Amino acid sequence: MRKARPPQPSPAPRAPAPADDPDAVVVPRGPDAIDRMIARLGPDAVIAALAPYVTAERAARIDAVLAARLASVVGVVEDVYDPFNGAAVIRTSEALGLHGLHVIETGLRFQAAKGITRGCHRWMQLERWPGAAACVDALHARGFAVYATAPGATHQIDTVDVSRPIAVVFGNEHAGLPAATVAACDGAISLPMHGFTQSFNLSVSAALALAQLASRRRAHLGAIGDLTPTQIHTLRARWFALKVRGAVGMIERIVAGETHASVATQPHSRDNP
Ligand SMILES: C[S@@+](CC[C@H](N)C(=O)[O-])C[C@H]1O[C@@H](n2cnc3c(N)ncnc32)[C@H](O)[C@@H]1O
Repeated sequence: MRKARPPQPSPAPRAPAPADDPDAVVVPRGPDAIDRMIARLGPDAVIAALAPYVTAERAARIDAVLAARLASVVGVVEDVYDPFNGAAVIRTSEALGLHGLHVIETGLRFQAAKGITRGCHRWMQLERWPGAAACVDALHARGFAVYATAPGATHQIDTVDVSRPIAVVFGNEHAGLPAATVAACDGAISLPMHGFTQSFNLSVSAALALAQLASRRRAHLGAIGDLTPTQIHTLRARWFALKVRGAVGMIERIVAGETHASVATQPHSRDNP
């Protein structure tokens, strides 16, 4: 007779997981159809094919936002519980002109309420990680200093060095950041608090910290944006494709040899999110 298997320890989530919300944005794992099309055809071909469907005003708006995109300040969130907080962090990051946001899903799947993001997640590079160590290692390899945030940390955000790319990690609404995540970072920093309340709400702390760091980093760089010309060109192709409904299918048909005229009536420009 087979021996009964002893019970195996399983990592318990640090807060009960919310039910999957059908109205929540779930961050995709890796490149999507637009990224794959640009990688295959090159940004020049994609921009040339879509330019007739993007108005001059929209192209100018895209170029202005691209010129202000900042890649060297990024937020990282671990085990966000509330989809409204997840969405608020994305929306704030995008509005500040930040290029990237990392989500760590140690115990909870990241979700963001669509009613709050209002599509703005599409203009950002969101990266998902199964654990904090892999995320922090990747950011270190890309040249970032990585700081954990914690209400009681003695080192305050105002004194953090912004002369190199910087990532700040925010924790779960209930438990904050795990000790292992804090240990993997280059240090822990706090936002000053002067009232009776002991911590800020997660999305509020992300807004306060990212706004301050983005502003100081831009002042240090002497420039509002820091994407390379190659990054800007590739993102321009992606954002054109996001603005034209059915862009991937249309370009595939052009590449497959159909006449431009036979597909020219199909795409429609998308409204702003
Ligand atoms: C509601 S707080 C979690 C509170 C939790 N009891 C703790 O002590 O970390 C959620 C997250 O917001 C950030 N946060 C809140 N207040 C902060 C402060 N004063 N300084 C730095 N980060 C703060 C941290 O990332 C924290 O993990």
